[in-house]
Amino acid sequence: MGIFKFMTPEIIFGINSLSQIGESMLRLGAKKVFIVSDPGIVNTGWVELAIQYLEDCKLNYCLWAGATPNPKDYEVEKGVDAYRESGCNAVIGIGGGSAIDAAKAIALLATNGGTIHQYEGVDLITRPLPPMVMVPTTAGSGAEVSQFSIIVDSKRKVKMTIISKSLIPDIAIIDPQTLMTKDARLTANTGMDALTHAIESYISLAATPLTEEYSLQAIRLITKYLRPSVASQHNREAKEAMAMASLQAGIAFSNAILGAVHAMSHQLGGLLDLPHGEVNATLLPYVLEYNLISSPEKYKNIAAAFGENVNGLSLTEAARLAIKAVKELASDIGIPNSLSNVNLKEEQLDFLSHNAVHDACMITNPRDMEASDVKMLFRKALGSEC
Ligand SMILES: [Fe+2]
Repeated sequence: MGIFKFMTPEIIFGINSLSQIGESMLRLGAKKVFIVSDPGIVNTGWVELAIQYLEDCKLNYCLWAGATPNPKDYEVEKGVDAYRESGCNAVIGIGGGSAIDAAKAIALLATNGGTIHQYEGVDLITRPLPPMVMVPTTAGSGAEVSQFSIIVDSKRKVKMTIISKSLIPDIAIIDPQTLMTKDARLTANTGMDALTHAIESYISLAATPLTEEYSLQAIRLITKYLRPSVASQHNREAKEAMAMASLQAGIAFSNAILGAVHAMSHQLGGLLDLPHGEVNATLLPYVLEYNLISSPEKYKNIAAAFGENVNGLSLTEAARLAIKAVKELASDIGIPNSLSNVNLKEEQLDFLSHNAVHDACMITNPRDMEASDVKMLFRKALGSEC
């Protein structure tokens, strides 16, 4: 085993932990806080509650609710302009992965300058970012603990993956009560995103003994609690467990990176502005089939984490149970098993496949992939013959 690092933010977890946000910002030296969110989250009341806690600590703030699903480069530029005009010296992101990724990208440009496109890739940030506190309101993205920010390049129509330890927030505040305002579809999609993080990080070429434990524990929680969490907005036990699963999967993938599912879904999401978690969930079984020969022992462990009985089976039989368990979970919560309902055309596949092999997440996929392999998997997911 080579040298590896393992990083997380300070983590504050639990029902009502949002109440810690003012004191957290004060500890980081905030004078005036720039809050990044989106209109949907503002409507849920969580931003208003966070502002109350900031005011209790005599902190000034500026609210910018310009983030959208799959945040775009031009939105980030508007956000940075607003940050600079506001006189703020710290950033809060409240929302799903999109709002948090936008918050990180705004913080990045606030001190590093230039355009967000300059930072696509790994370790291109050179100056410290303003203090950052992130509050996820979905159980899926893991963005509150990760060293990733994913921003759409609106001209190229691709998602840029920006990876740097500078993007790890200072403090993540994870309050499971925020999950109780989410509908079943969003809960299913984001939960499957967390599962994809757990599985891709577990079989990643950059996995370590530290990340593997987080990955497996996330899978155990998701197999037990995602179905009941989708079934009811009010199941507190399931919401707390899914918040923990998302956190653990986030810690795992931030340190072990991901794989071909995310490399492919970034392209599809960038081109067609699709829900990230749902695209991942649909692609996951196809990519797992392809990757199986790389790490059957790990697939067997994944099957066991799903609660499958692997005793007495051959290694390949046991490994295949991991894929079966993923398909069953996806089916039970209404995830489409193909991309046939997506407006994706055959002539777009070369563009997507070429870009996917150059996505930063492809570097750690456990089986080598050429553009032709990616295209074959897209065609399978579309329900086409190869
Ligand atoms: Fe993801």
